[in-house]
Amino acid sequence: MSDSENPRLEALRAAQTQVSLGGGQARIDKQHAQGKMTARERIATLLDDSTFRELQPFTVAHPDAEDVILGDGVVTGYGAIDGRKVFVFAQDFTVYGGSVSLAHARKIVQVQELAVQNGYPIIGLLDSGGARIQEGVLSLQGYGEVFRQNALASGVIPQISVIMGPCAGGASYSPALTDFIVMTAKSSMMFITGPDVVKSVTGEEIDHEGLGGALVHTSISGVAHFIGTDEDDALALVRRLLTYLPSNNVESPAVLPPVDDPLRCDERLNTLVPEAPNQPYDMLDVISAVIDHGSWFEVQAGWARNALVGFARLDGLSVGVVAQQPMVMAGAIDIDASDKISRFVRFCDAFNLPVITFADSPGFLPGVAQEHGGIIRHGAKIIYAYVEATVPKISVVTRKGYGGAYIVMGSKSLGADVHLAWPSAEIAVMGPEGAVAVLNRRELSAAADPDALRAELVAQYRATYANPYYSAQRGILDNVIEPAQTRPELIAALRTLREQTRFVPPKKHGVMPV
Ligand code: HXC
Repeated sequence: MSDSENPRLEALRAAQTQVSLGGGQARIDKQHAQGKMTARERIATLLDDSTFRELQPFTVAHPDAEDVILGDGVVTGYGAIDGRKVFVFAQDFTVYGGSVSLAHARKIVQVQELAVQNGYPIIGLLDSGGARIQEGVLSLQGYGEVFRQNALASGVIPQISVIMGPCAGGASYSPALTDFIVMTAKSSMMFITGPDVVKSVTGEEIDHEGLGGALVHTSISGVAHFIGTDEDDALALVRRLLTYLPSNNVESPAVLPPVDDPLRCDERLNTLVPEAPNQPYDMLDVISAVIDHGSWFEVQAGWARNALVGFARLDGLSVGVVAQQPMVMAGAIDIDASDKISRFVRFCDAFNLPVITFADSPGFLPGVAQEHGGIIRHGAKIIYAYVEATVPKISVVTRKGYGGAYIVMGSKSLGADVHLAWPSAEIAVMGPEGAVAVLNRRELSAAADPDALRAELVAQYRATYANPYYSAQRGILDNVIEPAQTRPELIAALRTLREQTRFVPPKKHGVMPV
């Protein structure tokens, strides 16, 4: 009997064709007309060629209903990215607007559980009208089950969400529980309450994009981490991100073959920090001069730009980099920067990525808005994250290290393994001008030429305290290094520290000041 004469095989193939058509050709055409790929096309673009294996393609929400659509609006399964296994799910907007029924949610839960059990990352491609309205509480139960798996998987496997269409209401909490959110520039949106509800409650008029589009979440709210110019770009970002990450929390991050000389010194660093303390320089120049050529992969590049966080490689080894950006708000630490830094440090620690810190901060940002917004609580998160981290922690003070901002940026007191400074470092309780104003108030008010006296006292203070040697003499810095030598210094430290074991006191978990 040939294949074409086998009725069971024919029935299977017919069912498979039905599955592949999702909600039908007309809806697929509509999706394409909007510049969006279908769920299956997205998975094929994300994964290595021909590696996708689908699970439960024949699922239907209510088998007895008349108009069932196979698959129930979500394509789930596993495959490979650059040869490494991953689990994946992609919501199919052509089926009931990708809305989530209990059956749909349980397909997602299945791949979440398999990803954790097997220790592989999970990537969700979201494009959904939210809870399936016809299902009522069943759909809410389904969402809750997905959220539960998100929370349980946190810190065990990397979880990445790509928002490629609507992600409305409580549905946003699943991606919010994952480690990284990528949004497509034009078609994605995330919000808890839509524009109509906003208008009825607050009177504010705003469209979907203005309320929760990609630009909003990558530059104002900080909810999303990356923006893809289009769907291909968003999926390429996911593939690149994974190259820096291990598959799970007991695996070491991938070490790629080194592409750069570990002993390379960059003389430009010796003159990068301007003599004038208030003149900025670009910390990205420091980072790119030190890390393996071309390995910088910035996270949340458009939000809280006074802080820099991102992945890089040093002699092929993946690391997390945290820094201030003196070009933005002079590198002062505010509420958003605190959130950005602390979350990133915790991610690195959860997934065994050493943390390299470049510190240059004049302090926490003063102001009523910051105090009333809880800068005390938010800033405390940075301390918590650095102290909790058991991965190798290496920090370099490039210039200003004043007060609390010095302490929180991976200082020795918080447990830095190797704490270095450049000769331009100024480490003290406060900046010279502020210190002189407090310490010498009486002399200044009595002086015939207070400006001249102030300048003299500032110079004295700077010479005595605002330099790295006061700290180095007291064992608070491990060394003062020539800036050009930073790369070989960091690589030597990493090679020595990368297998270190640090124990934390047993406890169920801490209570982070969130
Ligand atoms: C069932 C839905 C649906 C939903 C869309 N569809 N959302 N079906 N439940 N939630 C169906 C539509 O009826 C339509 O079916 C098809 O999907 C495509 O939808 P369109 O409206 O034609 O698409 P578009 O114009 O692109 O608009 C997309 C949309 C809109 C903005 C997402 O559909 C929308 O506003 N949907 C409702 C969103 C919502 O309020 N969801 C509940 C949020 S609360 P046909 O057959 O015509 O093609 C929530 C709570 C979660 O999710 C709580 C978790 C704890």
